[in-house]
Amino acid sequence: MASRNIICRGILSKKSGFGIRSMSSWWGHVEPALKDPILGVTEAFLADPSPNKVNVGVGAYRDDNGKPVVLQCVREAERRIVGKQNMEYLPMGGNVKMVEETLKLAYGENSSLLKEKRIAAVQALSGTGACRLFADFQKRFKPDSEIYIPVPTWSNHHNIWRDAQVPQKTFHYYLPKTKGLDFESLMVDIENAPNGSFFLLHACAHNPTGVDPTEEQWREISHQLKVKGHFPFFDMAYQGFASGDPERDAKAIRIFLEDGHSIGCAQSYAKNMGLYGQRIGCLSVVCQDEKEAVAVKSQLQQIARPMYSNPPVHGAQIVPTILGDPDLKNLWLQEVKGMADRIIGMRTALKENLEKLGSSLSWQHITDQIGMFCYSGLTPEQVDRLTNEFHIYMTRNGRISMAGVTTGNVGYLANAIHEVTKSGSK
Ligand SMILES: Cc1ncc(COP(=O)(O)O)c(C=O)c1O
Repeated sequence: MASRNIICRGILSKKSGFGIRSMSSWWGHVEPALKDPILGVTEAFLADPSPNKVNVGVGAYRDDNGKPVVLQCVREAERRIVGKQNMEYLPMGGNVKMVEETLKLAYGENSSLLKEKRIAAVQALSGTGACRLFADFQKRFKPDSEIYIPVPTWSNHHNIWRDAQVPQKTFHYYLPKTKGLDFESLMVDIENAPNGSFFLLHACAHNPTGVDPTEEQWREISHQLKVKGHFPFFDMAYQGFASGDPERDAKAIRIFLEDGHSIGCAQSYAKNMGLYGQRIGCLSVVCQDEKEAVAVKSQLQQIARPMYSNPPVHGAQIVPTILGDPDLKNLWLQEVKGMADRIIGMRTALKENLEKLGSSLSWQHITDQIGMFCYSGLTPEQVDRLTNEFHIYMTRNGRISMAGVTTGNVGYLANAIHEVTKSGSK
């Protein structure tokens, strides 16, 4: 074997004339990946030396000084668990207490589905991981199905279902003319989709538009999906961030449950508990009965096994420590409300500032929309001007993360928006 290697090396060296190091690369054909539209904004922001720079691109909450926040309830939970837990692997399905508490948030404290053990649920790698796990499950057990995705949506939804090899269709959601919901077209799309299709819905605080259906509209959507036998999959990344009340923000899901839907649901604690980097969330699927739920859960675990084996421990300890203690849970509810209220306050401030500057355009949608984002209606060219002339960073679809707006920068932001929208319509 050794002599064969030597002979081969000799031949290669002679042929190329450069010796063994000049062999062609294994990865020379790999082109650089396209930048993620959201993460690319942060990179550009960090590289900008201007002292006036503002980042309203990324969907992460900031306090009124523009600083990241760790909630007090999280700090207290950490204090309680520190040094008390070992670092053993969690079961494949994750921390049982965490999953239990998380399901109560989505399905209701007294949900009969929980009592009847009809929900298959596993801890997931935050909202993204929950969506991906479901997409893989869909592909494995409904291999011929497609997913209907709203236009627009969080850009990663497309990546997730693409990588799970589930074909994608779209449905109408946002109407640029009104900067609101395109309810009529949405209903037509639900009706026209083949019976038994999968629909991806944002449970609240739609990203990127900040446009949610009204309660009445949710009822009609639920009814029509039921008539068609479609499967609703809820991505709930912002429970509590829309209204400030997690119960109220679960309204859409509760309406669907009343109508007897079997739903899927991705939950995330990134935003509403500020546990972004802990990657803590949950995927649940409502089943016909306990037996079905046991089978579905076992298959979800089996999909997770070769991907990441089992989920991380720390966030999974923080969440039940907070939600399982009435005082800490109350503190959390106050803090979620505090974050939502600050965002709502910044919406009003941005709108008022634009009006004070004499903008002749309507900015009503800034306060009509809800949650972390304002879909401003700014064109890609106007966004480019904001970035190049004013060092204000956001995605080119005009999405403003209201969580990055502060008392200190709202005037500057309004002035810049006024400057780039002065001569034309948005
Ligand atoms: C609509 C939506 N779904 C899911 C997520 C996933 O977030 P994470 O994976 O951090 O929980 C986000 C984050 O921005 C989102 O906006």
